[in-house]
Amino acid sequence: MKLTTRGITFEYEDVGNGTPLLLIHGFPLDHHMWRSQIEGLQAAARLMAPDLRGFGTSGDAPEVMAMDDYAADLHTLLQSLNIEPVILCGLSMGGYIALAFLAKHPEAVRGLILANTRAGADGETAREARYANAKKALDEGVSSIVEAMLPKMLTDATREHRPTLVEYVRSMMSRQRASGVAAALKGMAARPDRVGWIKSINVPTLIITSSQDTLIPPGESEIMARAIAGSRLVILPEAAHLSNMENPDAFNAAVREFIGKV
Ligand code: MLT
Repeated sequence: MKLTTRGITFEYEDVGNGTPLLLIHGFPLDHHMWRSQIEGLQAAARLMAPDLRGFGTSGDAPEVMAMDDYAADLHTLLQSLNIEPVILCGLSMGGYIALAFLAKHPEAVRGLILANTRAGADGETAREARYANAKKALDEGVSSIVEAMLPKMLTDATREHRPTLVEYVRSMMSRQRASGVAAALKGMAARPDRVGWIKSINVPTLIITSSQDTLIPPGESEIMARAIAGSRLVILPEAAHLSNMENPDAFNAAVREFIGKV
């Protein structure tokens, strides 16, 4: 579906019935990363899966998109559709955005799912790598950064034995606009550290990670689980960074159980 509100055009899926669940995609991806959740969780929730600004077929991004900018977009979209409060479910960059959203609009959030993400900010080296990648994407095209990212997204086993999934992820990454990719990289580089702040989270929280995530190792999820009172931590086997795509059954089972409790 397409909706233009306050000058921003959003592409999004809106399927299923029940508790609204906002699925916030990672980088450099779009809402298609959620296809197994859109298929598998429709009976459990109303699933909203937008393309963030600059990604998929949503509107173009400015030069930099701060995590707060994406969060403001999502809040605008939810308000236009009159669906709040929601459960936020963000994977990786989607998790950074979910935290930014919760910090600004706690009244609009009834539950939080943080998948393969972290609360901390980038260190100096990571920040410099982001700026270098932003320049590379703009100068040479997005494909120039995709091949280096793929091995960190999926397990060796997936890359060896599941070519259809690998191609699905590769083509989703490669078709993103360089302007949107660069804007997100600069926004992630500038995101604040929320390690102290997450101690104040008081909505039901599910934290998902995977045993083979090397991009954001499980230790980052353990830090969040210790900090957020009453949160539940689930570590999925047979998955690297894109846990919802590599092990969708286990991911969906954890989310389904969580929705039942919120
Ligand atoms: C993501 O998967 O959203 C990104 O890899 C997150 C990041 O680069 O920090």
